Amino acid sequence: MHTLSEDTFRRITALMHGAVGLSFNESKKPLVSSRLGPRLQRLGLDSFEAYFDLISRPDDGGEFQMAVDLLTTNETYFFREPAHFDLLERELTATKPASVAVWSAASSFGDEAYSTAMLLADLQSQGRIGSGWSILGTDISDRVLRSAIEATYPEERLRNVSPQRMRRYCLRGEGLSEGMAQVSPELRRRVKFGQLNLCRPIEKLGPFDVVFLRNVLIYFDAPTKVAVVDRVLAELRTGGLFFIGTAEGRVPCRTQLQTLAPGAFRKLA
Ligand SMILES: C[S@@+](CC[C@H](N)C(=O)[O-])C[C@H]1O[C@@H](n2cnc3c(N)ncnc32)[C@H](O)[C@@H]1O
Repeated sequence: MHTLSEDTFRRITALMHGAVGLSFNESKKPLVSSRLGPRLQRLGLDSFEAYFDLISRPDDGGEFQMAVDLLTTNETYFFREPAHFDLLERELTATKPASVAVWSAASSFGDEAYSTAMLLADLQSQGRIGSGWSILGTDISDRVLRSAIEATYPEERLRNVSPQRMRRYCLRGEGLSEGMAQVSPELRRRVKFGQLNLCRPIEKLGPFDVVFLRNVLIYFDAPTKVAVVDRVLAELRTGGLFFIGTAEGRVPCRTQLQTLAPGAFRKLA
């Protein structure tokens, strides 16, 4: 077992904070050590210092990205916090828009983006919205984005998807793929994914009608949270809907918002 010294812990976390905004206070030292330790072993490195040298080199062969992947938690599942999807359905039904542009701004494996796609496809087929809807999922992690494009999930992750939607929008695996399900090609075509670091300036992406920024602010320190939320909200049109995780408390931002429900807001200006 390698020992992570205070000094190297600080250098690794400063690198992560500077480059991707991730914040780790002193209490996270065991977590950083346990997440990166096995990687050192696999690479045959003899110390965390050697690992820091590797990930801080410009020609690191992708190891910095690997460290980001190991240090972030990508947990997600379909229709997480279902009240947000119910609210979205009510809002869209009330306004019957011809088009809806949605951004899942820390999409992880794509569960949130495809859940929204299922809802919008249903609303379209019921004539409650027009056909011009689109969904963009972005994340900092390459690994989760590759998996999101493939859109194959253990059925456990789809536990909140109704049987009707499972039939309509998912292909269930058989034989060796038993217990897995893939989102249908028709739905996959409506959802695009791309890499985006929320802690860097955003090239014009929007305006979006709906933005999900759920369960990602937890990684950032207070000033970074404000910067990220304001940056993301600049891509949401006035009157658009904004969602954060219900456990994430008050929205730290300067943009004016109206609270609609826990973790759900409308942009006022
Ligand atoms: C816990 S998942 C949230 C997934 C989904 N939004 C949900 O609520 O189920 C958090 C995601 O944020 C991503 N993330 C962390 N820091 C990021 C950054 N600086 N820019 C973009 N994505 C980031 C992680 O890679 C991870 O996939």
